[in-house]
Amino acid sequence: MIPVLELNNISYRYPGYSESALDDVTLQLPAGGKIVLLGHNGSGKSTLLLHCNGILQPDRGTVHLDGQTMTYDRRMLQVWRSRVGLVFQNPDDQLFSASVSQDISFGPLNLGLDTATARARVQAAADMCEVTDLLERPTHALSSGQKTRVALAGVLAMEPEVLLADEIVSGLDPSMRRQVFRIFHRLVTLGKTIVLSTHDIEVARHWASLIVVMQAGRILRVDTPDRIFDDQDFLESTGLDIQWYLDEP
Ligand SMILES: Nc1ncnc2c1ncn2[C@@H]1O[C@H](COP(=O)(O)OP(=O)(O)O)[C@@H](O)[C@H]1O
Ligand SMILES: [Mg+2]
Repeated sequence: MIPVLELNNISYRYPGYSESALDDVTLQLPAGGKIVLLGHNGSGKSTLLLHCNGILQPDRGTVHLDGQTMTYDRRMLQVWRSRVGLVFQNPDDQLFSASVSQDISFGPLNLGLDTATARARVQAAADMCEVTDLLERPTHALSSGQKTRVALAGVLAMEPEVLLADEIVSGLDPSMRRQVFRIFHRLVTLGKTIVLSTHDIEVARHWASLIVVMQAGRILRVDTPDRIFDDQDFLESTGLDIQWYLDEP
């Protein structure tokens, strides 16, 4: 396995809080993987993703991209974020331009691409995420599902090698969900790596090639869906078992 991203002994505490949001997290993300970060609310999934593209800098530990140790100077961050794209859990944290087309163009223009190339990238990403008919809309006038698709298009327009998607599937309706998994499939076919955080065990079970189970800021287990979902004791001990709805009241 060749890791595209590696986190080594990452610990992080939000300023002013006494609890660690991440506690000595070590993780290797295989290139080309369909990786699911699985854990209950508050387990540290978003915090971990924010460390994967340098938005948060760990108190301790290091991050490596293709074997290179990441630093937090401007130049490195710019390269890092163009290679590792993050779609935020809350699209309102991501969208800040007045119109959808400006928002999706922001990344490509920021990369220094010429206008024609940037425009072609925006068009391709908008088509993929089915937001072409929204391009002239103001971003504030979108539904939350539309915002998520626009945020995804903005990240895809950067053509990142690694796509980090923070809980973006749960808020979408079934047809859009299917579309997002089609996009993921296409990206994986192109050799890209996807990291999706979710608390949806069905998504983890049926889509992931690798599951990273998180609990209380730690990584509890990294394993294949087959092995995790065959391990009833583990599922019960983590509260991730799915049998509850079959139990008698
Ligand atoms: N901006 C923040 N400020 C302070 N604490 C935070 C912030 N974001 C998350 N936390 C805390 O960090 C821990 C991990 O949260 P988070 O990474 O958001 O988990 P998840 O994405 O799995 O729900 C939780 O205890 C949460 O309350
Ligand atoms: Mg989260």
